[in-house]
This record gives sequence, structure tokens and C-alpha cells, in this order.
Amino acid sequence: MSSVVAVKPVVPVKPLVPVKDEWKVGALLTKADYEAWYERSVEDPDGFWREHGQRLDWIKPYTKVKNTSFAPGAVSIQWFEDGTLNLSANCLDRHLADKGDQTAIIWEGDDPQDSRRISYRELHEDVCRMANVLKDLGVARGDRVSIYMPMIPEAAVAMLACARIGAIHSVVFGGFSPDALGGRMEGSATKLLITADEGLRAGRKVPLKANADKAMEIAAKAGHAVEAMLVIRRTGAEVAMREGRDHWWHSLRETVSPDCPPEEMSAEDPLFILYTSGSTGKPKGVLHTTGGYLVWASLTHQYVFDYRPGEVFWCTADVGWVTGHSYSVYGPLANGGTTLMFEGVPNYPDAGRMWQVVDKHQVNIFYTAPTAIRALMGAGDAFVAKSSRRSIRLLGSVGEPINPEAWNWYYHVVGEERCAIVDTWWQTETGGILISPLPAVTDLKPGSATTPFFGVQPQLVDNEGTVLEGATEGNLCITDSWPGQMRTVYGDHERFEQTYFSTYPGKYFTGDGARRDADGYWWITGRVDDVINVSGHRMGTAEVESALVSHPKVSEAAVVGYPHDVKGQGIYCYVTLMEGQEPSDELKKELVAHVRNEIGPIASPDKIQFSPGLPKTRSGKIMRRILRKIAEDDFGALGDTSTLADPGVVEDLVDNRQNRK
Ligand code: WTA
Repeated sequence: MSSVVAVKPVVPVKPLVPVKDEWKVGALLTKADYEAWYERSVEDPDGFWREHGQRLDWIKPYTKVKNTSFAPGAVSIQWFEDGTLNLSANCLDRHLADKGDQTAIIWEGDDPQDSRRISYRELHEDVCRMANVLKDLGVARGDRVSIYMPMIPEAAVAMLACARIGAIHSVVFGGFSPDALGGRMEGSATKLLITADEGLRAGRKVPLKANADKAMEIAAKAGHAVEAMLVIRRTGAEVAMREGRDHWWHSLRETVSPDCPPEEMSAEDPLFILYTSGSTGKPKGVLHTTGGYLVWASLTHQYVFDYRPGEVFWCTADVGWVTGHSYSVYGPLANGGTTLMFEGVPNYPDAGRMWQVVDKHQVNIFYTAPTAIRALMGAGDAFVAKSSRRSIRLLGSVGEPINPEAWNWYYHVVGEERCAIVDTWWQTETGGILISPLPAVTDLKPGSATTPFFGVQPQLVDNEGTVLEGATEGNLCITDSWPGQMRTVYGDHERFEQTYFSTYPGKYFTGDGARRDADGYWWITGRVDDVINVSGHRMGTAEVESALVSHPKVSEAAVVGYPHDVKGQGIYCYVTLMEGQEPSDELKKELVAHVRNEIGPIASPDKIQFSPGLPKTRSGKIMRRILRKIAEDDFGALGDTSTLADPGVVEDLVDNRQNRK
């Protein structure tokens, strides 16, 4: 995608875009409803959620609702704990009587000629069959199943099949490397892996099965042997199948019954693990459970998007990310909706693809990331103008702060001022949206995620943990639990407490900074920890550093983010070489290739600066503040460097900086 972006606003950014009368027509909630519901949700959470938990079909109804504590050393989160249910039955079986023939999934392939519609009845049958295949291959309730797939309907089938039999899925983004997949399979002690022969993106093949084979070896070397692999045929490429271990889905599908009774699960039984980056160490396995998660995914999907029966909902996120879990699959299907899954990329065959797909499938709600909006904005308005887009009623944004210029373009050019934009702030950890406008309720401010959803109590604190009142900026915490909250880090509850509840004891710390304005609107300012957000993909700088230092010529590395016109943040790497190694452009290329290989293409360094030394305190701690400033070409504001062990290194870093304004 082009890296040159016209960031000139089409029209001046207005500070406030009031709710239009058209947006209120047929809307599910009025402003008065929102206010009354919100107040009740925080004053009487038990009563509020007792009522809203009933949106699901329970096998055994719950009698308990909220049982949560953020207390230091005793963090424990349980919702609807004595109820039982099955998630796949909630997403499928209960819709069969009146929506059996309705389309559940519209699939749009990488090739614009390729698409499919799958009804609820067909999806139900496929899920039952895959559930039976998994059982035949030895997968039982509680076992972990990894899913490494392209964006094809079978990815959703695999997730729902796991849920049907009570297996815990761990979806690993298909763009991750064999190393990343192997590490995650080892970490979750995966029993079986579901993958495809190849993926297809922008006409290029992605060797998923070959990567999976390598990942199996990597997991085995790390001490965990994955027993079996179920392979979906996507491109029909010739792939190596290991006898006794690897199985074709299309063959086994015909050997099993199309019925599979859903397993009765407790509300607090694990549903999925999703690995995500933190500021330190290896990615964490975020664990979500069944009841609370589905209540949250379905309720937020319905009210934030004001979703109405029959509408076509398109969330562009890959199922490898939490957005794909909650808003491509579980939220829309729990609500009996029609969800669109797109295999391709926004600029293939050209930058008009998204809008062609919108027209082709008459999409009503379109939900994407600011990085895609900025890239398409950079490609020029002509691509948008070629489409009608009249079907779109609502636009959504997620994954990173949306800059007002991109918001404005989305609103004026894509939506032609007909559609509200919901800028939804949330995280893998939160299970679903926490702060967002509601389309018929909230006057919009470009760049602001606006107001909290039901039950969400945000708070700003300073670095010492003092609660800040009024219009101000600080660290964003949430003071009480909501049903969609993650329950633990898989296998490491201590790390869960340490990461989220120890910085400001008694509160959930998000890792984000935020501003609250005089109207009480929330503006997310970005991460305050060592997590960066590159093209909407969340990454720990520590992961990129450890990939770099695993290269034999590298002795030390420090990685920071810097503002990037399209990606939001770019990856800037300071690299110190081993004695005797010479810096060169060749070596830069080698290091980029090495990081791509270790993590995946999404972690490709944008800038590499060879530096003989890094700025460290006398106790050896790298002063990242200084590295960030130099990467931003803002070294006039380096601040106090007197605590550095060797203040001289800074001069060299500045002289050789790779970004010059
Ligand atoms: C950022 C994605 C500003 C934020 C759902 C958060 C946002 C991280 C927004 C989580 C938004 C997400 N405005 N920032 N609307 N949405 N973020 O876990 O920094 O991949 O902490 O979840 O993305 O990323 P994750």
C-alpha cells in the first residue's frame, strides 16, 4: 500500500457532529434509555445483568450473577457462575426454527469472482460434523485446539465446533511465523491443530500447512508434541500429509454424523485462549470463558452497532484477532445476524475493493481499522466514488486512535455524511467494546471514543495512582468488572494479577492513556507501556527486540514506536552489533528478513539504526524515553540526560537518526 498519504482534510474537522434525526429512525435505544440503563448498570449491576444475561439460552438458568473481586492478591472474576449453556447452540441451534434458511455467513474470497453464502442450517451441519470429527480424533472437553487458518468459513466452523464439544480454541493469526505458532501451541499444550493447505491474499499463496509442519517440530522440540492435524482444502495445492497424524477435513466430513449434541458447559468454563502482546516477555494467553463473554459480545454487537434483523454486518478483522472473534463470528451469530467474512486485502485488485464488496453484498454496517481508512484515503477519492455505498447505514472504527482527518474522510467521503461513526475502544482483555458512541444517542466528536458502555466505569489516575477528576489526562483504569472481562492468563494467574491489577491496586489498568474533556467524553491517547500498535496490530517492543538479538550478528537491540502516516505507528529499531561486525544496508535487509521469519511480516522493522551504544542509566536500564524522542526526530526535547552512564552515546544516536523531518 502506498506510504504517501494526503492528510489534508476534505473539509475542516468539526469539533462536534450532533446525532442526526435519520439516525434515530428505528434505533434500538434513545438517549434517555442509554442514560437510565447506564445508571442502573453501575448502581445495580446484579439486577441489570440478571436481566440482560437472559438474552442467551441457558440449559440451567443462573441464580448468581456477579461475583468479582479486584482485591490485591485475590483477583477473581465470575459471572453467572452456576448457569450452564453451550455457546454454539446459542449461535446456531436456537436460530434454526425461524432463521434456518437465512444467510449466516457471506464469504467473499480473495478473488472478486469468488463468493459463497452459508445458511444457518448449513453452518449448523458443518459445525456438528467438524465437532464429530474432532471427537473421533480424540479431542475431549477441556482440550486445547489451535486454529491457524485463512479467512474462510471453515475458520468460524472450527471455532464453533470446539465450543460445541467444550474444547478450548486458540486461534493464531495466519500471518504469524512457524516459530510464533509453535510457541503458542507449546504454551497452550495443544492437542490438535486445524489449518488449511494454503491461504490466499492479494493473489499470493501463504504456505499454511508447510508452516504448520515446522511449527509442530518447534513445539515438539520445546517439549510438547501436538497429536494431530486437521487440514482444510482451500487452494488444492499439493501438501505433505503425515500418515496417522494429518487428516483431510473433506474426507473425514463424509464419515461422521451431521448431528452432534452440544456439550453442557458451565458459564465459567473456558471458551478460548488468544495470545496477545504485553510490555514484557512472551505473548500472554488471554483466557475468556463462556457465559459472560457471549453476553458481552452479543449485547455490544446489538447496541453499539444498533444491529437490526436482516442486516449485513461486515467486520474486516481477521479471526486471528479478538475483533474477529467477537464481531466477525460470535456477536453477530449469537444475534442471528448475517456476517461477512473477507479473505482478501483492501487494495487488491485495487483500492476500490472494499466498496465493491459493500455494493456486491449490500453491506449495512462496516467496521474497520483506522490504518485501513488512512491507506484508502491515501489512494484517493476516485476509488470510493466508483461505488454506490447506499446500503451502508453505520460505520465503525477499532484498533487504534483514529486521527480527526481520517475520521473526517470516513464520514464525508465514504459515508457521505449519512452515517454515524462508532469509534469503539476495547482490548483483547476486555472481550468486547467498552467505550463507544451509540449511533442514535451520542453526539460525535471526531477522534473521541466518547462514552462508556453499560456497566463500564472508567477512571483516570496519575502515575502515583491518585484519582484525577474533571477535564484532564491520565492513565486509564476500569474500577469494576464487566461480564466480558478476561478471567486469567492461561496457566499463570499470578501474571494476570501482576500485569493488570498491581500497578494501581484494586483497579484494572488498561495500559492506555486517556483524556476526559469538559463534556465527560473519553479520548484514548495510546499506550503508555511498551506495547505498540502497528497497522492496528498489537505488538510488544520486547518481542521484536528478542527476535533481533536472536540474530548471531546482533548483541543488543532496543525497539520503539514512532508516528507513521498509514500504520499509526512504525517500528524503529536501534541495533548494536557484535564485535567485528560492520553495519551495512545488506545487514539491515538481513535483519528485516530475520524478524519477519521469527514473528511474521506484521513485525517488519520500518527503520533500523545501527548504534554503537544505547542510552542506559547507571543501573543498566535503557532509557526508552530518549530513544522514542530520537525516533520521532524530536531530539530538541530529550529532557534530562544527566542520569545516563555515558551521555556521549546520545550525540551519536542523534547524528545517525533515520527519521528526519
Ligand atoms: C488500542 C483490539 C484508540 C488501545 C480491539 C488498546 C484503540 C489496544 C481503540 C488493544 C480505539 C483499540 N481508539 N485506541 N477505538 N481500539 N485501541 O488487544 O491502545 O488488539 O489498548 O484489541 O488497541 O489492542 P487489541
